[in-house]
Amino acid sequence: MSSSFGTLFKIATFGESHCAGVGVVIDGVPSRLPLCEADIQVQLDRRRPGGNKLGTERNEADQVQILSGVENGLTLGSPIGLLVKNKDQRPGDYGSMNQVPRPSHADYTYRAKYGIHASSGGGRSSARETIGRVAAGAIAEKFLRETYGIEIVAWVSSVGQYDAEAVDLETITREQVDAAEVRCPDRAAAEKMTEEIVAARAAKDSIGGVVSCVCRNLPAGLGEPAFDRLEAKLAHAMLSLPATKGFEIGSGFAGARMRGSVHNDPFVQKAGRLGTSSNRSGGVQGGISNGEPVYFRVAFKPPATIGQEQQTVDYQGNQTVLAAKGRHDPCVVPRAVPIVETMAALVLVDLALIQKMRS
Ligand SMILES: Cc1cc2nc3c(=O)[nH]c(=O)nc-3n(C[C@H](O)[C@H](O)[C@H](O)COP(=O)(O)O)c2cc1C
Repeated sequence: MSSSFGTLFKIATFGESHCAGVGVVIDGVPSRLPLCEADIQVQLDRRRPGGNKLGTERNEADQVQILSGVENGLTLGSPIGLLVKNKDQRPGDYGSMNQVPRPSHADYTYRAKYGIHASSGGGRSSARETIGRVAAGAIAEKFLRETYGIEIVAWVSSVGQYDAEAVDLETITREQVDAAEVRCPDRAAAEKMTEEIVAARAAKDSIGGVVSCVCRNLPAGLGEPAFDRLEAKLAHAMLSLPATKGFEIGSGFAGARMRGSVHNDPFVQKAGRLGTSSNRSGGVQGGISNGEPVYFRVAFKPPATIGQEQQTVDYQGNQTVLAAKGRHDPCVVPRAVPIVETMAALVLVDLALIQKMRS
């Protein structure tokens, strides 16, 4: 139930942190879309752990295998099964943590809900669950790019107290974002952010941050009033990601401090359509895209698993001290960048297919 997302482009993800593999089944991919494993691997490589000082030391190749739904490089219109095998499992790393629920992680609530919990590494609450999403999102993105020319670019806009300068939403590219390991296109801020993450790791601690995202070249008209408003679907999608704590679109919470005379986006004539001269709406009005870039921000908390000793209690209520073992991300936002892009693509592809049914 809780593992599926989408209406017409419907995904169901599977897999735990330390089981044989993780993946996704996607029902509703339009037929005759050119597709190969390399199309999907690009975003999986951007998400994958290992290889730099800012993420977990767990080293996974995360090679995707297409199991079904594609023949001779074209989608068949049937369900597409995608599998990524877990290679670097180390369930032994979690010994004492199985007796003590990690503060602010999902161990306690999973046990309360199911009466059982995968024995290591967060099981289903691990960010490895997002692999299936990212694999599906790469297909959604390909369809959106080839059908509408839609581009989706996310970047790290804050780590701890360090904020990036505003970026040009019309021109920012993934290449600019990936130029720094921390995935912040503002080079000066990127250096501060990197130092902050390295310092948090050295202190056996973790740090939070914000991912911003822009979706360009959307046609006006995507989004369903009233419950499936575009911003409501985006909020649902983003807050379904592990470690998220907030979602803002356009002016967001800052809009609550403004007057209408300042906040309104006046209409202007643009090439072949009505546009707006400012974009505090974030590209959405009445829950429907207006043709301007859709942009939003997602807040991620500091990861819960830290090596510092924390006073807490075990499952029996006995006072204890927990110092987490295992390999963990000191900050999730650099790796969350492609995951945020993925969830945006999954929302947009669904709304685009729904809108297509109307015309
Ligand atoms: C890319 C990514 C990597 C993550 N890595 C870790 C990690 O190494 N350690 C950890 O405790 N949490 C990590 N998390 C967050 C946990 O999965 C999440 O906090 C946990 O499932 C509890 O859910 P909640 O924080 O939404 O309440 C990561 C999240 C993301 C998006």
